[in-house]
Amino acid sequence: MIFDLKLNDKTSKKLQIEDYIKKLINEGLLQSGEKLPSTREMGLMLKVSRNTIIKVYETLCDEGFISTTKGKGTFISGKKIRSNTGQHLKWGSIINDYTKKAENLDIIKHEMRSKKGMISFDSISPDKNLFDLEEFKRDFLNILSLEGNNILNYGYAKGYKPLIDCLKKYMSDKGIDFENKDILITNGFTEGFDIVLSSITEPGDKIICENPTHNTAIKLMKLHDLNITGIAMEEDGINAFELEKELKEGRPPKAAYLIPSYHNPTGIVMSSQKRLSVLKLLNNYKVPIIEDGFNEELRYSNSTITPIAALNGRGNSVIYIGSFSKILFPGMRIGWIAADKELISYLESIKRSRNIHTSFLDQAILYEYLMVGNFDKYVKKAKKYYKEKYELAIKYANLYIPYTKLSGEGGLHIFIEVKGVNSRKVMKECYKKGVIFTPGDIFFTNNSGEDTFRLSFSRVSKEEIERGFKIIGDTIKESLRRI
Ligand SMILES: Cc1ncc(COP(=O)(O)O)c(C=O)c1O
Repeated sequence: MIFDLKLNDKTSKKLQIEDYIKKLINEGLLQSGEKLPSTREMGLMLKVSRNTIIKVYETLCDEGFISTTKGKGTFISGKKIRSNTGQHLKWGSIINDYTKKAENLDIIKHEMRSKKGMISFDSISPDKNLFDLEEFKRDFLNILSLEGNNILNYGYAKGYKPLIDCLKKYMSDKGIDFENKDILITNGFTEGFDIVLSSITEPGDKIICENPTHNTAIKLMKLHDLNITGIAMEEDGINAFELEKELKEGRPPKAAYLIPSYHNPTGIVMSSQKRLSVLKLLNNYKVPIIEDGFNEELRYSNSTITPIAALNGRGNSVIYIGSFSKILFPGMRIGWIAADKELISYLESIKRSRNIHTSFLDQAILYEYLMVGNFDKYVKKAKKYYKEKYELAIKYANLYIPYTKLSGEGGLHIFIEVKGVNSRKVMKECYKKGVIFTPGDIFFTNNSGEDTFRLSFSRVSKEEIERGFKIIGDTIKESLRRI
């Protein structure tokens, strides 16, 4: 009990009780808005007359510590706590190297941010106006009434079984053989990749990836203290010749991280032949492949492309990480790892030790959404919507931007290179004119790419694509004139 004051006979009981209540308020043990016991109850608790408590409350009221509302009771008021026991620590000198590194690599904090009213080509998040909220609400209510309390309780680290089965079917349809393979549900690609790196790498290990590559992946590889070896990109994916040379002559890598479909940032889709040759090559050197299945669904032409994990058949050397973040709802943070059964069992332990499991409520809603056929409907709608914007982006890039190289075969962005132009300088000028994009250098593993630009079109209107690309193009032309 909070009011357990032992009164002494040395000073007045009224003063002792006043000081005691003030102390509780100052130390934060009684918070603003909290109700005090009635004068009768408090008198009984402290073994003093009710009259004494009435006088205590009157004084505290006068001093602004408490206030009384007729018919409701007596409450702690919002008076500022003047605690002299509070400690002030310099957290900047307490945080460890990992935290300092994470803060340094946190581009959201350190890069220029879009402001309201600007034309933003910087984010590859989906357009929220495409989300079918009414359908989502129906699915939410359906699954809640079907599952009841079950999905509000603790679940399994591996994930919500119906969703796992549904994803197995989804992946099997892409050609992946599930004999001796399994799935772990994660909080998006990002957690999946972090868990995989935690399970197979040690600080100092070498990891191969495409150069440029996904910035979040670079951040995680750096946070795991890995030695990143970036291999240049060609028009049809990673340069296999350079990859082979690295495998032959360099230190053996622990893994290779690849984004074969709508590679971020170049938007390049690795050709089928290259998928096969890269797989063979890495298998020959017994290097596990971490395949990022990012955006596979956003293919605007009708031909399908087989994931590397499918080409590997019954082999278990490919760890596939999937995510619906860029097509469906990134806010749900649901992704999955499809890999060898034994490996998934190890990864499951890491997942459990970190955050027990991904929200079962979210997984169940996503399952319902997929099961009732909404996903297919949505992908159709999204493809049509983004394809139109993609075509406009290509059209206006050709019309307004004097690029030396352009890539992007689908997805939500295009990538350009303008030889001799510094994209950060262009960005500063464009920012003043209300346009923002992502300077390409953040995606490079070797401090290069200063003449590259990633232009995302997912969240801008068609009219903004034209207006924004013209501003970028004009700014680049001005910059070229100054050279
Ligand atoms: C290459 C790549 N993979 C995966 C993702 C999705 O990550 P997450 O599922 O954590 O949102 C992104 C998002 O930008 C990406 O660029």
